[in-house]
Amino acid sequence: MIRFYNGPWDPVSNPDGLVNLGTAENSLMLDDIATFINGQQIQFTGEAFDYSEAWGSLRLRKAVSGFINTHFKPHTPTQAENITISNGCSALFNALGNVLADPGDGVLLTKPCYIAFGSDFGLLGGMTPVFIPSKDIDQFTPDILPQYEAALKSAKDRGIKVKVLVLCNPHNPLGRCYPPSTLTDILSFCNTHKIHLVTDEVYAMSVYSEDGTPFTSVLSLDWQKYIDPTYFHHVYGMSKDFASGGLRIGSLWTLNTELHRAVSALANFHHSGTVNALLACRILEDTSFTTSYMAKSRQRVAEAGLLARALLDEAEIPHAPANAGFFLWINLAPWLREEDGDDGWARERRLMERLIGERVFIAGGQMQNAEEPGWFRFVFTRKENLVREGVKRLKNVCGIA
Ligand SMILES: Cc1ncc(COP(=O)(O)O)c(C=O)c1O
Repeated sequence: MIRFYNGPWDPVSNPDGLVNLGTAENSLMLDDIATFINGQQIQFTGEAFDYSEAWGSLRLRKAVSGFINTHFKPHTPTQAENITISNGCSALFNALGNVLADPGDGVLLTKPCYIAFGSDFGLLGGMTPVFIPSKDIDQFTPDILPQYEAALKSAKDRGIKVKVLVLCNPHNPLGRCYPPSTLTDILSFCNTHKIHLVTDEVYAMSVYSEDGTPFTSVLSLDWQKYIDPTYFHHVYGMSKDFASGGLRIGSLWTLNTELHRAVSALANFHHSGTVNALLACRILEDTSFTTSYMAKSRQRVAEAGLLARALLDEAEIPHAPANAGFFLWINLAPWLREEDGDDGWARERRLMERLIGERVFIAGGQMQNAEEPGWFRFVFTRKENLVREGVKRLKNVCGIA
């Protein structure tokens, strides 16, 4: 992509620039966060430039736990002492991959799944992804559990010890939530097989429509009935719901004290920075701001989703139902072109290259471990003119009139 990168698209200053509908960011709320911080008239003291605790100051850990207790309706309120802060969820996954497993051990992941889980757990931790194909089963229903068992068995048959299951709820890239019945079955599955459940709820507050399963945080269930508490770990961060990917704040909540200590020790390599932490505290501590901000964000995401659906429908591009996150899972299979008897994945890669050649970036399904070629993740939380320009270019490449 770097080959083609000529700066971000701007209708006036860079009309040939890249239309990025690939990175899952909520551009629609960036200015609101900036305005809130500008309104704080922050006077830094010298301490803001000190190291502070790498695993998160007590103030920040209290702010995160307060936010979770207000917005996630936990069955038992979370406490700051069980939280570790890091520079983003990615850094936490990297730490968990190092601490919970030995190189070669398996991490169970859905198909498709968030693009970076494989490398987050694998690059340094050396974990092997073990995918759970859903075939024709709706993977959000309890009917999927036999597929979890089958994936585990096939990993065992290949000599892979599965140590971790990552549950992304709301799901990236499918934009859907798991109902309580599936969540409790997954908790029991992990408990039975002594697998650590890492639940990534980074899109928790970005469920923008009631037309679909509502979000249930695993924390809100009586989860200890289903799993040994040392096997359950909750991850949240400010990159998505707070449109603050640049702030680099991620949190791990766990009652596993050994894991908490190990990840906190590694946090020295993953410090968010004291200044960033202070800004995060200002945001999280203001409950009236977080409540109104989340409502506004959901409203804007919903509107952007409606526009994207309308444009895709007009172009007759199929998309899967979704009610959460910043993206739609769209099916470009009808526009894959065969060349010299190549397979569907090669055709998908070529389509993606053609899209990038037209300077529109949409992440292809293969890199997200899709089950069939032709699916792409279309991020719609962008300014309206950019989404329109992106769809125009997409139609050009596909030859849609
Ligand atoms: C499901 C999911 N988890 C984690 C991340 C990364 O989070 P962070 O910016 O906190 O590292 C992303 C970013 O796209 C994501 O989609």
